[in-house]
Amino acid sequence: MADYDKNPSPYLQQAFSENSYRLLEWTVFMGVLGSISNKRVLDLACGDGRLTRVLAHGGASKVLGLDVSSEMLERAMEQNAPGKPEAFPGVVSFDRISATDDLFKWEEQADLVTAMYLFHYARNVDELNQMGRFIGRNLKKGGRFVTYTINPDYDFTNAPVDMEKRIGFRYGIVDPPAYTLLIKDFEVPIWQWGRDEHEEALKKAGLSNIEWHPLEFPPEHQDLMPGWAWYLNNPSCIVLSAHKSD
Ligand SMILES: C[S@@+](CC[C@H](N)C(=O)[O-])C[C@H]1O[C@@H](n2cnc3c(N)ncnc32)[C@H](O)[C@@H]1O
Repeated sequence: MADYDKNPSPYLQQAFSENSYRLLEWTVFMGVLGSISNKRVLDLACGDGRLTRVLAHGGASKVLGLDVSSEMLERAMEQNAPGKPEAFPGVVSFDRISATDDLFKWEEQADLVTAMYLFHYARNVDELNQMGRFIGRNLKKGGRFVTYTINPDYDFTNAPVDMEKRIGFRYGIVDPPAYTLLIKDFEVPIWQWGRDEHEEALKKAGLSNIEWHPLEFPPEHQDLMPGWAWYLNNPSCIVLSAHKSD
């Protein structure tokens, strides 16, 4: 059973609640993504399709969402059922495939591979490298990869005790680099990989132009900065992008 099969409701409630973290979460990611129009996109760790649907709304010609959790995929497919306002039949589809699968090949390579929260589910560096290979194999030359991941520089020991109240989630320290993501009674294991480990996994898979993009609020919401200084001084997540060399 995949970790998100157990009881994803607290996670989903958190992921869909409107708060300032949502702004932080989407602003830099979507900015780095740029235009999606007419792109074939592979959305890894798609979960219930939160980003997958945004990609379809943004004009992607085709989006395939992949995830290991049947529970999350069931929710994604339910929302993409014909007749539902969020449905994109023919454009969006979903499948249960792990991003560590060493054989999966999409019918045609993608223009863009997205992964909003993936690499920290790699349980060891071998799995991180498998994810890198998965991306490299399924991305066309000149294509882009954009992910949201646990910040390699995040200091888990320096989090406020009331972090979950402030931001909706918190972390538990297990045996670094092993940690847990906690939301009420929902708990999944995560791992914090280093910059070098992320970059090596991508380079070995033929990706280059690797860039790290710290989270920030959009210009019109700079007023939120003082209240979020505690998080922005030690952000747990970061956006990472790369290109597949021509
Ligand atoms: C935090 S959720 C993110 C879902 C979605 N990307 C979003 O931002 O709303 C993380 C997802 O990663 C999936 N996941 C974990 N390990 C994976 C793997 N090896 N391959 C594919 N998906 C994986 C989980 O099942 C879960 O649905």
